[in-house]
Amino acid sequence: MIIEKFRRDNGLAYAPDEVIVGTGGKQIIFNALMSTLEPGDEVIVPAPYWVSYPDITLLAEGRPVVVTCQSEDGFKLRPEALDQAITLKTRWLVLNAPNNPSGATYTRSSISSRATSSRISDSIQRKPCTIRSKPCATRMSPDHAL
Ligand SMILES: Cc1ncc(COP(=O)(O)O)c(C=O)c1O
Repeated sequence: MIIEKFRRDNGLAYAPDEVIVGTGGKQIIFNALMSTLEPGDEVIVPAPYWVSYPDITLLAEGRPVVVTCQSEDGFKLRPEALDQAITLKTRWLVLNAPNNPSGATYTRSSISSRATSSRISDSIQRKPCTIRSKPCATRMSPDHAL
């Protein structure tokens, strides 16, 4: 039913193992961090951010690494800033787009270039995960938002 809804209303194709049902974005992110973080693991949180993300990280005994995004960049995460933030302890990048509160969005190609120009592709091999929160992004063109 969920897969059919996204196919029909949003033109998005998902497989059953890509669908999670929960009581809200915060609960799903909380579950994900609680079940994957070891004490001291790092979670990169681009700022401005939804207020709960650093506290959820702390509750899971992780360390929030806040990376401030600049207004002159449209509050988008700079690839170089991401590079600097990634360490051997990085486990998650919380990339919220369209961002609440800044409204920043990313094109698919700008996400790809951020991934390839940063060490995120290396760190993906160490199994960090990216949370994509808030399904409102599905109401936008897939070419314009992730
Ligand atoms: C970016 C972002 N993260 C998390 C939340 C919280 O989501 P929920 O109420 O589904 O837990 C919101 C709510 O608007 C949000 O905008």
